[in-house]
Amino acid sequence: MSSLSIVRTRADLRALVSSWRRDGKKIALVPTMGALHAGHLALIEQAKASADVVIASIFVNPTQFAPHEDLARYPRQEAADIVQLEAIGCDGLYAPHVEELYPDGFQTRIVPGAVAQRLEGAFRPHFFGGVATVVAKLFLQVDPHVAIFGEKDWQQLQVISAMVRDLDLCVEIVPAPTHREPDGLALSSRNAYLSEKERAIAPSLKQALDWVADTIKQAPTTLNSVLEQAKAQLLAKGFHAIDYLEACHSETLEPWQVGDPARILVAAWLGKTRLIDNRGLD
Ligand code: PAJ
Repeated sequence: MSSLSIVRTRADLRALVSSWRRDGKKIALVPTMGALHAGHLALIEQAKASADVVIASIFVNPTQFAPHEDLARYPRQEAADIVQLEAIGCDGLYAPHVEELYPDGFQTRIVPGAVAQRLEGAFRPHFFGGVATVVAKLFLQVDPHVAIFGEKDWQQLQVISAMVRDLDLCVEIVPAPTHREPDGLALSSRNAYLSEKERAIAPSLKQALDWVADTIKQAPTTLNSVLEQAKAQLLAKGFHAIDYLEACHSETLEPWQVGDPARILVAAWLGKTRLIDNRGLD
């Protein structure tokens, strides 16, 4: 018998979470948009290690998609997701309908600051406002002690950490390392869009990050030409556009200066699919 409690309304969510709170349980939240893969499941494992009970949310959040983006075709497979959550021993699933989070008359949003302006923010101006708003709502509705976010979406992790600090939200943000395929491709629900040919090219993204990291570790002053060479290599491999490939301060995401903690971040297009990845510099 499954011990996964599935709730879809704020009232049922509150009843579930209140019963855990009454029992003195430490609660971890793992927000997702579903189409769960091993990267999401690793977050749930991390949540289990950080708390007594784990609740995942599945909500394909319309406010973080621009009208021309893939909201309509974003993969939705709730029945398969539920099987995976049951198998891994997740305690709760909050899977609200759109009206539950955005009822008629909804009009108040979170506006993230400088950390959200560059990189993803420059190419998807609506994106982090939508993410921050829905994550703030999930935090307020679920009221977890901890919430787990993947380093795969590095800038998202920094935007949410800044929001929690700035708005004094009472939740601890726990980062989880990026889960990869054996050939290095970061797991992503959007990998399902890749053709066989594109899938064979996709691991070059991680190889480019590794090459940039190794090269600038040896010779930091060559950074700009290394980044240009890496972009040219990606285009030669079959990516058809690169939105950005940059070395940044790992927390502020301002352009990297020698001595800063570094993160290299990339977003590139393979056919109609946009892939993102990043890595640190030890
Ligand atoms: P989604 O893309 O479904 O990702 C949910 C969580 O899983 C995020 O914290 C993301 O960073 C993490 N994740 C995805 N792929 C991963 C991988 N390969 N390794 C480790 N973690 C991985 O990110 C979102 O949804 C949404 O923006 C959300 C935060 C739910 C707000 O709508």
